[in-house]
Formats: sequence, C-alpha cells, structure tokens
Amino acid sequence: MNTVNQSIVRDMNLAPNGHLKIDWVKEHMPVLNRIREQFEKEQPFKGLKVAISLHLEAKTAYLAKVVQAGGAEVTITGSNPLSTQDDVAAALVEDGITVFAKYNPDPQEYKEHLIKTLETKPDLIIDDGGDLVTILHSERPDLARQVRGGCEETTTGVLRNRALEKSGNLTFPMIAVNDAYCKYLFDNRYGTGQSVWDGINRTTNLVVAGKTVVVVGYGWCGRGVALRAKGLGAKVIVTEIDGIKAIEAYMDGFEVMPMIEAAKHGDYFVTVTGNRDVIRGEHMAVMKDGAILSNAGHFDIEINKPELEELSTSKRTVRKDIEEFVRKDGRKIYLLAEGRLVNLAAGDGHPAEIMDMTFALQAVSLAYINEKYKEIGKKVLNVPYELDDKVARLKLEALGIGIDTLTEEQQAYLNSWKEE
Ligand SMILES: NC(=O)c1ccc[n+]([C@@H]2O[C@H](COP(=O)([O-])OP(=O)(O)OC[C@H]3O[C@@H](n4cnc5c(N)ncnc54)[C@H](O)[C@@H]3O)[C@@H](O)[C@H]2O)c1
Repeated sequence: MNTVNQSIVRDMNLAPNGHLKIDWVKEHMPVLNRIREQFEKEQPFKGLKVAISLHLEAKTAYLAKVVQAGGAEVTITGSNPLSTQDDVAAALVEDGITVFAKYNPDPQEYKEHLIKTLETKPDLIIDDGGDLVTILHSERPDLARQVRGGCEETTTGVLRNRALEKSGNLTFPMIAVNDAYCKYLFDNRYGTGQSVWDGINRTTNLVVAGKTVVVVGYGWCGRGVALRAKGLGAKVIVTEIDGIKAIEAYMDGFEVMPMIEAAKHGDYFVTVTGNRDVIRGEHMAVMKDGAILSNAGHFDIEINKPELEELSTSKRTVRKDIEEFVRKDGRKIYLLAEGRLVNLAAGDGHPAEIMDMTFALQAVSLAYINEKYKEIGKKVLNVPYELDDKVARLKLEALGIGIDTLTEEQQAYLNSWKEE
C-alpha cells in the first residue's frame, strides 16, 4: 500500500531519526517482541483494518508495527496535539503504516486527523482518552457499523466508555486495558511517577530538592508522582476529595490539606485527577511568586487556563514549553506544556520497559476482542485475568526472575473450607 501518498505528516525527511528511536525502544520491550513473534505466526488480524489513536511516539509506533505484523492494515493518529513526534510519524509511513499526525496541529486539523483515521473504516480500534469512540458514537456513527470492538488505554477514556455503556448507547465492545493490573500498577504509578519528573526537569532545569510539591489527586498516577517527588528531596503535599485516598496519602508520609491551603505553599503543582478545574483562579491568586504549574491528567482542563489568563496582565514564552504569566501585583506563575500532559507534551512519555507491559496488554486484548466480540456484546469488559497473568509472567521471564508454584497440598488447603 502506498502509505506515503495517503498519510499526513510534517516531514518525511525526519524518518531516519524516527527509525532510530523505534529501534531503541524495541530493544527494551521484550514482552512485546514475544507477542510480535506469536502474531507473525498466527496472523490474528489478517485482512483486518485497525485504527489507533495513541500518543504518537516511539513505543506506540512499535505497538503499531506489532499489530501490523499480525496481518492488519494499520492507520494511526495522535491522542494529544503536543505528544506526536514528527520523526517517529515519518518512520511509520516508511514502514507501510498510514499516519495522520503532526506535532502541534491547530484544533481543527487535530480533529480532522482523528476523523480521517476513522474514515479508513476500521474493524478494530485502539483508543486513548475516548476520542475515537466518542466520534463514532456522535458525529460519525456511519463509520462505526463495521467496528467489531476496541481497547481503551487510559483512566479518562475508560470512564467515558463506561458512561456510554450506562447510557445504553455503546454500539460495540471495548476492553478497559487501563484497569488491568499490569497497566495501572506499573504504567500509571511507576511510569507516570518517573516520566512526569523527567518532563518537568528537562523543561525547567531547576532543582526539586527542598522545594514544596503539591500533587493534586492521589490515585494511581498521583501516588507515583508523589513518591518520586519525595525521592527527589521535595516536601510533598497531597490534595484529595476522596477520604480513603487522603488517609492513604497521610499514612504514606505526605501532608494533606485542601487546595486553597496548599496553593499558598507549593513551588511545583502537578494535577493528576482526570477531573476539571482542580486548580482555579481562587487558588492561583494566592500562589507564591514563581510557582510552576503542570498537569499529567489526560485532558488540559485540570488547570483552569482561562482563569489564569484573567488573573494576568501579560503572558510570554520564556523557554520551550514554559509560559510565564504575570499577575497584577507583578508575581509570576509558570505553566508547563500549555497544561497538557507534561510527561508526553514536554517529554518522551513513560519508560519503554513500562510501556512493554501496557502495550503487550493492548496487543493481546485486541486479538481477544477480535476473537470474542460476538459473544461479548456491547459491553465495557475488563482484561481477562489470564491475559494479565500472561503479560506478568512474560515480563518476569524477560527479567530473569523466577517465582514459586503452589504445591498440591497448598492448592488443596487454599481450596478447602474446613482443613486446618
Ligand atoms: N500522564 C500520563 O502518562 C498518564 C498515564 C495514565 C493515566 N493518566 C491520566 O491521569 C488521570 C488520573 O489517572 P489515575 O489512573 O491516577 O486515576 P485515579 O482514578 O486512580 O485517580 C484520580 C484521583 O483524583 C482524585 N480527584 C478527583 N477530583 C479531585 C479534585 N478536585 N481534587 C483532588 N483530587 C481529586 C480522585 O479522588 C482520585 O483519587 C486520568 O486523566 C488518566 O487518564 C495519565
């Protein structure tokens, strides 16, 4: 297929660097490599079209190539305007994948890329944040007819999928990859924990030790962000709306307080709630001079940007991915990566070894839904435990770590209600 003619990317001359990036991550994704070998033999997607919307960087590119190796005709677009890497996009086109994605397209162009991806009439989809599913269930139901099902990558998308299911309008099954153990325990926690600080540190080039970091939301991602902030030597404050998570944060050694209090103390703020307006004008008004705001939640709505603009007399870009806002009394606030996911918009996203498990789950879940979509029906389904366990065991094997197995007596004991 002539993917060069069909695709929309920034510059095909960037492809050689994209290939190098993909080769590097491939070396660090042993589980996905094993699944690729299996797909090459079994061809689970032979003759099928797969549409993918994910942060288009090297690890995602390798997932697209693994799905292609399973026999699929793959089309891919981004899932955030600032996370597409143009060199990786160009490399994929050379590898026979149709790409509609550029770094920093305007909102209309970004949307057009999502729609063009769906206009290929996919049989299966991989979505991140729910944009493909939403378009298929609102503006373009005509493109949903042949969709057998798909997989959703992140917390926000799973919430949107479940809301659609609850409303009775979901027209095909979706697997909540985010909710698998091998996803959120590692990707959301350790992946986000490390890559958020990578993104903030490479963007600001400032010290974290001794500073106060406010982590907004102590879910799977927030736990990781707070843990790594502590490791970097910061004093960490957590804000929450959930009582249980708040006690957990307290017992983990962090200070817990309402945002209006925390706002006065923070040098760095990281929002990671999946909710909107968790930092608002009233909070920004009392922040210290030089406070640095960043977001790691899926959408750029966690920090209320219009209210930040209203509070400010001027705004300018002071360094790549850093905007300076000057409040009326002269005090400054810095916003990183326009309030979009800082680890992807101002970094390379999670480490390859982490995405190895997440994308292995994506690959096996996609094959599963293709096989079982008729019997599953129009539901949001969790990743079956056997698939989660398979990915964990392949990862352990790749790490050279052995674990024990139950003896017959232990198995019997665990299954008995009266044996002592
Ligand atoms: N940056 C990344 O690479 C990355 C990776 C995975 C997930 N995500 C996204 O990050 C977000 C969070 O994901 P998660 O898996 O941690 O979700 P989660 O549901 O485990 O945690 C979210 C937490 O935010 C809290 N919260 C909600 N509203 C709040 C408010 N107003 N103030 C304080 N806390 C509030 C909730 O009580 C919950 O504990 C989602 O949007 C998800 O899609 C981003």
